[in-house]
Amino acid sequence: MALLDMLPSIGRAAPRRLDPAIWPATTHSDEEGRLCIGDVPLSDIADEFHTPAYVIDETDFRYRARRYRKVLRDPGVSEIVYAGKSLLTTAVARWAREEGLGVDVCSAGELAVALAGGVDPTRIIMHGNAKTPDELQQAVQAGVGRIVLDSYIEIAYLAGCARKSQPVLIRVTPDIDIHGHRAVTTGISDQKFGFTLAQDHAADAVKRVLAHPILDLVGLHCHIGSQVTDPALYGEAIHRMIAAMADIRARHGVILTELNIGGGHAIPYVPGDRELDIDDLAVVIEDALDEACAAEHFPRPTLVVEPGRAISGRAGVTLYRVCSVKTQPGSRTFVAVDGGMSDNPRVSLYGAQYTVTLANRHSVGLKQRVTVAGRHCEAGDEIARDVELPMDLHPGDLLAVACTGSYHHSMASNYNMVCRPPLVAVKDGRVRQLIRRETVADLMSRDCG
Ligand code: LLP
Repeated sequence: MALLDMLPSIGRAAPRRLDPAIWPATTHSDEEGRLCIGDVPLSDIADEFHTPAYVIDETDFRYRARRYRKVLRDPGVSEIVYAGKSLLTTAVARWAREEGLGVDVCSAGELAVALAGGVDPTRIIMHGNAKTPDELQQAVQAGVGRIVLDSYIEIAYLAGCARKSQPVLIRVTPDIDIHGHRAVTTGISDQKFGFTLAQDHAADAVKRVLAHPILDLVGLHCHIGSQVTDPALYGEAIHRMIAAMADIRARHGVILTELNIGGGHAIPYVPGDRELDIDDLAVVIEDALDEACAAEHFPRPTLVVEPGRAISGRAGVTLYRVCSVKTQPGSRTFVAVDGGMSDNPRVSLYGAQYTVTLANRHSVGLKQRVTVAGRHCEAGDEIARDVELPMDLHPGDLLAVACTGSYHHSMASNYNMVCRPPLVAVKDGRVRQLIRRETVADLMSRDCG
């Protein structure tokens, strides 16, 4: 036991600096220096459920969902649809439903989870750039509210399996390149999603959908990318999409009544990162809709947004135990932990950066810059590089990594036959396991011998 473990009063003199923009809303340090979320010490969760473990703050998730409804509902956004791909379990689907959100899904698996979470099928949107005929069939049978069409063949498949009028949207690429900080672009022509406005591909898709009276074309959809910090880009998307809707009216005499501008709202992962300000977004949406509809003499459509990360991202932290601390001669100090790229592939995939802190005790001694490395057989298996952690960090210490609510559980893998972590929800001092830890028996059960 370190001296500081025995003298908690020393720790109180130097409280941990936890950026409230990054850590879950209910995060605090208790008098023993333990990091707590939802009034539960994270070290208790690590003791009970072991590590690595994903912890999700239900209060934070619900707070973000409610804030979207409050800020974007008033100025005319009529629907907030939670992007399930960021994090989806039956409990999470229920939280979204209880907060008045719809849920967007992009596979039969996500559809099943949303339905099991009690989401009203009419408030489910089915996405996917390569939905299989089976998935379309399941979406139709479930009675999902919207299917977003992404290719010509899908239009034919869907028309073939629909038994009653099926509301659909067409996904369009508005050709907006988001050169933002660490942003990923999906609203340009040179990528796999949607139909381009250029060369009349979108117009062609409209013509084909209208040729099938069983498909009820209600609107257009676009998603300009991920980690978008500048709300003006959504204003630009609205202008282009309303112009496209006016063009459809001119060519086909059809007035589309719904415009879905997707998600992609940025959150900060490390101090200083910019986030998309949703108060600003509300103003931009309102102004852009007013201007674009006036310019085209087009009736104002219902506007839909699909945030995922901005609702689930900050609610989650990942807990790891330190396995070893190693300083390579003339090189970095590596803190190896018991998880890695199997529970967080985002560092190796996107060069993502994270905020890490010691979670089980006070840390008031000197600090050093380290790389938190994973346990996998891959040099790029890192959780965070150049982060400051206490010099007395030792095996058995508990680390918490912030902003891991989105695209961690949902993107986890079994690389090296490592079992995927449990997902544990905390709220008001209570702990509830939403997803149990995967076992070797789970993995072996798929091996047919
Ligand atoms: N709507 C559509 C049609 C989408 O494709 C996405 C995300 C969203 C909404 C929600 O985007 P969000 O608000 O969560 O940024 N694996 C990447 C993110 C991929 C997002 C793909 N589409 C990552 O870990 O950053």
